[in-house]
Amino acid sequence: MILALKNFLSSDDCDHIVEQLNTLEWQGDKNKNPEYNEKIKKHLQLNEGDDPLVKKYSQSITQRIVNDSHIQRFTQINVMKPVQFSCYKEGGEYGRHSDNHHMGSPSQSLRTDYAIGLFLTDNYEGGDLILEHTPEYHETVNQKKGTLICYNCGVMHRVTPITKGERIVGIGWIESMFQNEEERRIVSETKSLYKELKEEKGLDHPHTQRAISIYFNLCRRWKSI
Ligand SMILES: [Fe+2]
Repeated sequence: MILALKNFLSSDDCDHIVEQLNTLEWQGDKNKNPEYNEKIKKHLQLNEGDDPLVKKYSQSITQRIVNDSHIQRFTQINVMKPVQFSCYKEGGEYGRHSDNHHMGSPSQSLRTDYAIGLFLTDNYEGGDLILEHTPEYHETVNQKKGTLICYNCGVMHRVTPITKGERIVGIGWIESMFQNEEERRIVSETKSLYKELKEEKGLDHPHTQRAISIYFNLCRRWKSI
């Protein structure tokens, strides 16, 4: 399942960020081996540590994602790797791959339960994100600028070659408080039920109290932090 939040950023905000990022020199990936860059990762990027300007946008966008109630409910977020930016120029692509199971420095490593994509441009052709949910079901994702997507990181995926224009996206990864996907879903539903009961019957109603008690007990059992 994929979560898509339209107008997460306004069109003007996207244009401004792209204009600012394009004043910097987009970089090749320094961390991967040359064979990976040659065969699979054929695009450029800007990371938080590359320039204060990148850090500024990375931090503000990351904070906005972490604080978003849809993201919180969908992922049961524990921590997020700061957003970095990717630029696919004409001919650029990202071949079929799977994201690493953990990312970040050894002292600040996080498990990649969800991937985030924030579309900052849409004036390009090609550049479809293909998510291989199963061998038979491949989903094609291409959104308007300003849309934020969040999807399960465990799927093989790729970005098709750009044939015209420039595809610029913010990307990031989220670790959930619950490692097991099914447990994560049950906890999320229980919390939603608690909120609905609180709204409808009040905080001190026995049904509301019972729902929060079940929620706490599930967290005691399954929460991994
Ligand atoms: Fe990826």
